[in-house]
Amino acid sequence: MDSNGRIHNFGAGPAGLPLEVIREVSESLPNLEGSGFGLLEISHRSKTFQKVIDDAMDSVRRVLSVPEEYKILFLQGGASLQFYMTALNILKEGEKADYLITGGWSKKALKEAGRIGDAKGVWSDELDGFKKIPKEGDFKIRDDAIYVHYTSNNTLYGTQYQNPPNSGGKALIVDASSDITGVELDISKHEIIYAGAQKNLGPSGITVVILSPWAISRIGSDIPTMLDYNVHIEKGSMFNTPNTFGIFVLGRVFKWLEKNGGMKGAINRNKEKSDLLYQELDRTDFWQPHADKDSRSKMNVTWRLNDRSLEEIFLKEALECGLGGLKGHRSVGGIRASLYNYIKKESVLALVNFMKEFEEKYAS
Ligand SMILES: Cc1ncc(COP(=O)(O)O)c(C=O)c1O
Repeated sequence: MDSNGRIHNFGAGPAGLPLEVIREVSESLPNLEGSGFGLLEISHRSKTFQKVIDDAMDSVRRVLSVPEEYKILFLQGGASLQFYMTALNILKEGEKADYLITGGWSKKALKEAGRIGDAKGVWSDELDGFKKIPKEGDFKIRDDAIYVHYTSNNTLYGTQYQNPPNSGGKALIVDASSDITGVELDISKHEIIYAGAQKNLGPSGITVVILSPWAISRIGSDIPTMLDYNVHIEKGSMFNTPNTFGIFVLGRVFKWLEKNGGMKGAINRNKEKSDLLYQELDRTDFWQPHADKDSRSKMNVTWRLNDRSLEEIFLKEALECGLGGLKGHRSVGGIRASLYNYIKKESVLALVNFMKEFEEKYAS
């Protein structure tokens, strides 16, 4: 447990949030901002809530340095709906889009885009177990592709782009669900950025979507209303009843980030935390890190134990020591520690100490 009696939460999402934010949320439940209406009970059409959503959008713009001409949306349906919605809004029938396949989420994005146009995976290391990110020159983008889609951080496998891929001048669309605000991200180099909130931004049930003027100019006509970006732009993300609770929490999470050094602060903390853990993983071959060194993620660290039969024992004993959420995704197995923005260094130190003791106890 941490110093507040809460578990060290290494889960892949929904992830741990700052305790200060949790407390603010609980104070707002009976009475939001002195309005007399509780947070779960207030109309999205009220002035009080309008201020909540406006403040949240302003914070997102400031923290992520979103250029003025880009639009920010808070949508529902998760990042999974964006796999389809991006292609539906941007691609016309028969048009081409190229996808870099670095894990299960990019595969899903490709599958949905294939319902709309000629979507092609132009690089994949699936046969090698999704251990790496493509390098310059590893893939060729089709001359007539409209955009290139990539997944900045592969939550399941623990790999991450250190820089955006070179799309050869084509529009870039990124699924940044599991590293947005946790590592550098130059919004102006992308045409669409989307991210489910439940890792670095707040609770599940909101997806942040950021659209460039190019993306907006491409939006087709005759798109089903709820899937049409233009509808959500025009209605300020309130065409229908939004996730009012989630938007409030997301706004508070961004305020917390602003008070704690903005993205720079988060990036430095995340580097320090992941360095600590990778140092331990590289110390002994008792551990087998999954990702290639130059593709390692600062958000999700994945590894196996040299002796696979010890993995269940590791997870059981870790939980007994207050270290939770460490089970690797079933597609990789083993252990995964997610080190999202609000996981404290204190938690990573506790994990590393546990690992050292575990190795001492079980290394033969
Ligand atoms: C990189 C990435 N993309 C997409 C998703 C799917 O997100 P959602 O559950 O919000 O649809 C996840 C969920 O973990 C993810 O990590």
